[in-house]
Amino acid sequence: MSKNNNGNLPASLNLNVRGLKTSATLAINEVSRQLVSEGKEVYRLGLGQSPFPVPRVVVKALQENAFQKDYLPVKGLPELRATIAEFNRKAHGLNSTAEDVIIGPGSKELIFLLQMVYYGDLVIPTPSWVSYSPQAQIIGRPVSWVPTYEKDKWMLTPEKLDIICRADPERPRVVILNYPNNPTGATYTLAQLREIARVARKHKVILVSDEIYGLLHHRGQHVSISRFYPEGTILSSGLSKWCGAGGWRLGTFTFPSSMRWLLNAMATVASETYTATSAPIQYAAITAFQGGKEIENYLLFTRKILGSLGRFIAQSLQKNNITLPYPEGGFYLFPNFGYYREKLIRKDIYTSVEMCDVILKETGVAMLPGRDFGRQPEELTVRMAYVDFDGNKALQAAMALSPDKPLTERFLNKYCGKMIRSVNLINDWFLSL
Ligand SMILES: Cc1ncc(COP(=O)(O)O)c(C=O)c1O
Repeated sequence: MSKNNNGNLPASLNLNVRGLKTSATLAINEVSRQLVSEGKEVYRLGLGQSPFPVPRVVVKALQENAFQKDYLPVKGLPELRATIAEFNRKAHGLNSTAEDVIIGPGSKELIFLLQMVYYGDLVIPTPSWVSYSPQAQIIGRPVSWVPTYEKDKWMLTPEKLDIICRADPERPRVVILNYPNNPTGATYTLAQLREIARVARKHKVILVSDEIYGLLHHRGQHVSISRFYPEGTILSSGLSKWCGAGGWRLGTFTFPSSMRWLLNAMATVASETYTATSAPIQYAAITAFQGGKEIENYLLFTRKILGSLGRFIAQSLQKNNITLPYPEGGFYLFPNFGYYREKLIRKDIYTSVEMCDVILKETGVAMLPGRDFGRQPEELTVRMAYVDFDGNKALQAAMALSPDKPLTERFLNKYCGKMIRSVNLINDWFLSL
């Protein structure tokens, strides 16, 4: 729907959608593209996309299944659902079966469908991934933002969750927990997961555990909270991040069997909207989730590169009084530039949005402001996606080295050079204020 001649939105636009803008991550990518078309060098730290290619065995499986043309069952290809259940059994000790799994065109769509069919407030920590809250707004669900603190690595604490849930204890709620986290790169300890599970059980909340970065835990030690709260946790995952296949659009939800009614309700809405997830992609996803040597090796080295690069960048920023949680999984950092507030004010910069705009214009480094993740506008946090490098080249080079040998600064400069340059540009920009 286009704007009318006055530039106003048409009066018929749904009230819940009015005022919503294109998803923040996509918008910054458009600005970056524009700068590139003007011949400027842009460092794309805005869009959170895996830099690595899809593993060869998975690409091959897709090629071999290109002929699959039939609509598949709404809930997903039975063989894939069984493979996901088996994966969850092995990886997380979950007692799930194929019937507990639903496949969708991206976990984002599944999170939306869940909010559509379940009447409950959305409870999310701030900062949180950019799309949970707009989805709730589109559907007309209230959102409770749970405050978090830098000293806790911006993680949800059981105490804060308890406070929110104690007020009006009978109220239906969906709590979304995301770890390894977007935007912070931090993850929970086992003790923290146990405590959050205890509070979730006490209040009988539906816990959506968004573990889309689980396999990208840098030390390969991700633990699902569904171990500790199996009866109330929906485990959300997919192909997008660990398998480098965001554009393939495949997400998975695994339910406890007692929540089959919710899965069925989602399938009903799916049947009237997207019908089913792309058939060839579902066949290829079987290969991805079955795992095997090539995929294990791929994960070993992609994690190693992400871990080394994340730690290197974090240390480089910390040297200049920029504070941030140490990266433990995925490919994000969430630095706080508060130390430079006075100097920024002299440049007429008061908010994270203004700061990101000026940095993009003056250095070419594109990042997302903390405001987009639910932080107060004047807090000087940003999200950096440290993915602007040739993942294929870096992966081949890392695989040629011994797995036990740590990646050196020289390696990072050679294969992730653009990322290192972008961080130098950021450091220099702040030091020159
Ligand atoms: C935390 C988080 N959850 C969910 C998604 C959605 O992933 P997809 O819809 O590609 O499965 C993303 C993607 O950026 C994400 O960062």
